[in-house]
Amino acid sequence: MENRVTDEHPGLGKGLGRLQGRVAIITGANSGIGRATARLFAREGAKVVCCDIQESISPRIDRLIEEDGGQAVFARIDVTAQADCDRMVATALESYGDLDILYNNAGGGVRKMIHEFTDEEWSFVVNLNLNAIFRGVRAAIPHFLKKQSGNIISTASTFGLLASERYPAYCATKAAIVNLTRQMALDYGPKGIRVNCVCPGSIETPRFRGFPPRSAGSDLSEEQRARMAASNRALQRVGRPEEIAYAVLFLASDESSLITGHALVVDGGQTIDA
Ligand SMILES: NC(=O)c1ccc[n+]([C@@H]2O[C@H](COP(=O)([O-])OP(=O)(O)OC[C@H]3O[C@@H](n4cnc5c(N)ncnc54)[C@H](O)[C@@H]3O)[C@@H](O)[C@H]2O)c1
Repeated sequence: MENRVTDEHPGLGKGLGRLQGRVAIITGANSGIGRATARLFAREGAKVVCCDIQESISPRIDRLIEEDGGQAVFARIDVTAQADCDRMVATALESYGDLDILYNNAGGGVRKMIHEFTDEEWSFVVNLNLNAIFRGVRAAIPHFLKKQSGNIISTASTFGLLASERYPAYCATKAAIVNLTRQMALDYGPKGIRVNCVCPGSIETPRFRGFPPRSAGSDLSEEQRARMAASNRALQRVGRPEEIAYAVLFLASDESSLITGHALVVDGGQTIDA
């Protein structure tokens, strides 16, 4: 184990067994919201297939989970490729013999005006934020249908509910996730499959520190943090990845058994007024 002075997720408590015995796939699991959620799921008793296109952050998420005493495997996956999405489901079935939860979390954006976008940039955002969910769900659904149960969660954004300047592809794809969530909930509810999404406000993750993400020690500037804090209008502070992880845990657990087609806003009040 590395000599780490502080735990990177001080907001995570001890597990209460809320996902005991479940098998979960999490995409974008090596950084930010996905990383905190993977760790929380494992603490709650889940076996976690941690999928990410990069494994440069140290310790890699599966090793961090193992240090906690949890169970995880890492799969290097590009969620924009169908073959990789098929492989992530195969990894769950081969490693743990089952799949209960698919958390589509990997995502990102390009900040510029729509007329400045190249085709490649536009396709990049649509592929990463929207088409990847189609591909991930298409890979997982046959297994969920076979067992007549399953739980799909995706990370949308408050920018799927509101507009944000110079963020057209991001806002469009995150809004699409919100309604795709409702649509899939309708089709698959009768088969015992729930489908929900979370809409985070401003959360402090490496995404805001550039890509590829830099690790510890590269915090937001005071000006960036102040701007993000102000955007979470009521609580006036930047959110932590753990605070999204707990919302995702609720949707993944049986505690939310009657909730489907829902967009759970976790935003410190960013969206409560005009
Ligand atoms: N941070 C925020 O304020 C915020 C707010 C609202 C929504 N979100 C959403 O939350 C999700 C996670 O964002 P984050 O802030 O934790 O970012 P992050 O950059 O810290 O983590 C994203 C992870 O996704 C991985 N990834 C990127 N492309 C991938 C691909 N093609 N295949 C597999 N993995 C890939 C990255 O390697 C990274 O590890 C995203 O969907 C983002 O849009 C974030």
